Amino acid sequence: MAQELTRFSVAMPKDLLDRFDELVERRGTAKNRSEAVRDLVREALIEEECAAPDTKVFGSLTIAYDHHANDLQDKLHGIQHHYCDAVVSTMHVHLDAHFCLEVIVLKGENALVQEIANMILGCKGVKNGRLVVTRVDEHM
Ligand code: NI
Repeated sequence: MAQELTRFSVAMPKDLLDRFDELVERRGTAKNRSEAVRDLVREALIEEECAAPDTKVFGSLTIAYDHHANDLQDKLHGIQHHYCDAVVSTMHVHLDAHFCLEVIVLKGENALVQEIANMILGCKGVKNGRLVVTRVDEHM
């Protein structure tokens, strides 16, 4: 539900504002300065709130790995079955003859989501990966 907006003024150096305006322009016609500032404020709040171990979060973990690596697929599969209540969905893409990309969507308390992500990222053969954590509430 849309809330009433409050106006406030912000002072910043001209070159910083110019760079901010370029960012707003890159984000497209749906964004203006106000919307871009709101996005940044939400991002900062989400980041801080998600840092607490007991915050309920959603996480998307993206990993790339070589499916020929020793028993790696079994390990990844095993971890996801063990934590099946926290694993919402997994998308698997065969990138080429060797490499796979997996996007694993997790939900639960931040500490658990981080633990599962670290376990997966720590598996030998996972080439790289990143967890992005977010949350939603009605005040955003
Ligand atoms: Ni594959």
